[in-house]
Amino acid sequence: MMSYKDGIAYQYLRETKYDRESILRRDDLGPIPRPPVYKNYPEAARIALPKPAFEKTESLWSILNQRRSRRRYTPDPISMTTLATLLRAAQGITLSARDYQFRTAPSAGALYPVETYLSIHRVSDLKQGIYHFNVLDFALEEIGQDNFGEHLTRAALDQAMVGRGAVLFIWTAIVLRAMWKYRNRCIRYIFMDAGHIGQNLQVAATAMGLGCCCIGAFYDDEINQILRIDGEEETVIYLAAVGNL
Ligand SMILES: Cc1cc2nc3c(=O)[nH]c(=O)nc-3n(C[C@H](O)[C@H](O)[C@H](O)COP(=O)(O)O)c2cc1C
Repeated sequence: MMSYKDGIAYQYLRETKYDRESILRRDDLGPIPRPPVYKNYPEAARIALPKPAFEKTESLWSILNQRRSRRRYTPDPISMTTLATLLRAAQGITLSARDYQFRTAPSAGALYPVETYLSIHRVSDLKQGIYHFNVLDFALEEIGQDNFGEHLTRAALDQAMVGRGAVLFIWTAIVLRAMWKYRNRCIRYIFMDAGHIGQNLQVAATAMGLGCCCIGAFYDDEINQILRIDGEEETVIYLAAVGNL
């Protein structure tokens, strides 16, 4: 009988462990090309994001104590400024130094393999559709216009909060951005990076009185198709619904 210890989870953890000897050997993966840190859609219609608004909020400790996954939202829209503030909190650039732009969330090796897309359902002054977040220019790039809420709800195992949220954050990984350096071990780091980004979003949403729930259950390729990404070099890894309470 197969044991859970033979499954892919344990196998993956075993095979990507560092020990004092193996850290000096490299996985047998051949040369790995290094992709650029930024993705952009030069042909896409572009929406400038307003300046984020960092109003005085309660203390960090009170916000941490209040943070909860919230799955029920009112149908009220959020503003563009609120959206911009959430994007900035989750993954905005906070420091340019040497050849790097550092962000609100840490990233292994400052390689930033996680991209952000948004499915806009109810945001004032922004058409419903799928947008890509251009981190460097702090702008949105339009990928497709429509209300993708229902489609995405089905792709997220019928979790109603997906379509009910004012916006769905969709995070993907460009795997090679981390793999050229960390080889097989990169998968660990990619998911840690996504966790940091998700927590930033949850904390910011709590501070702004919004509801937010991170989502790991979805049919990956159904979401990849909506984003028009290949599911290998770039693939969806995490979602978060955000709405008014
Ligand atoms: C990686 C991850 C995946 C999750 N996926 C889902 C999900 O698919 N659906 C859902 O309703 N909640 C999901 N959650 C939220 C958890 O259920 C929630 O964090 C947990 O019940 C603890 O509650 P709290 O966040 O309010 O403290 C996920 C949370 C994490 C961290």
